[in-house]
Amino acid sequence: MAHEDIPLVAVVMGSKSDWTTMQHAHETLDRFEIAHECKVMSAHRTPDITAEYASSAEERGTQVMIAAAGGAAHLAGVIAAHTLLPVLGVPIESPALKGMDSLLATVQMPGGIPVGTLAIGKPGAVNAALLAVHILSNNDQELREKLRAFRAEQAQKVQQATLD
Ligand code: RP5
Repeated sequence: MAHEDIPLVAVVMGSKSDWTTMQHAHETLDRFEIAHECKVMSAHRTPDITAEYASSAEERGTQVMIAAAGGAAHLAGVIAAHTLLPVLGVPIESPALKGMDSLLATVQMPGGIPVGTLAIGKPGAVNAALLAVHILSNNDQELREKLRAFRAEQAQKVQQATLD
């Protein structure tokens, strides 16, 4: 695997049904040209695969992990239990409780095993990816400048907004 192909960010989700949300994380990482991989694995349905993947991520060169799940959303916490890499959690908007279940299950980690939890649904997926870029940019000035340009572009869009 060439150096530039090492997935710096791992994006995992509990089900294929989470992809409609998590594709926004993928697109955001693509926008910043961050090597990443997206995988489906479950804290409940494939616990051994999940533990093995999280345990071995650091030695593969991954620097940040993003984990998304809905309902009894243990995925980010289980991933965090198996790695020292920073883990960002995205609560999926579940049909039954609109993601409140996912949010509480992801955010309410006991002290000692942190998960940085983002917003429910698409904004959380986008912001998890952006936060991963921010973390990576601590050691990458070029990436920091891309973030600066991204912020400037956003500000310009707000300033140019017309209401017709
Ligand atoms: C969770 O259960 C997944 O993350 C998903 O959000 C939810 C429902 O999964 P499916 O029944 O759509 O596979 O584990």
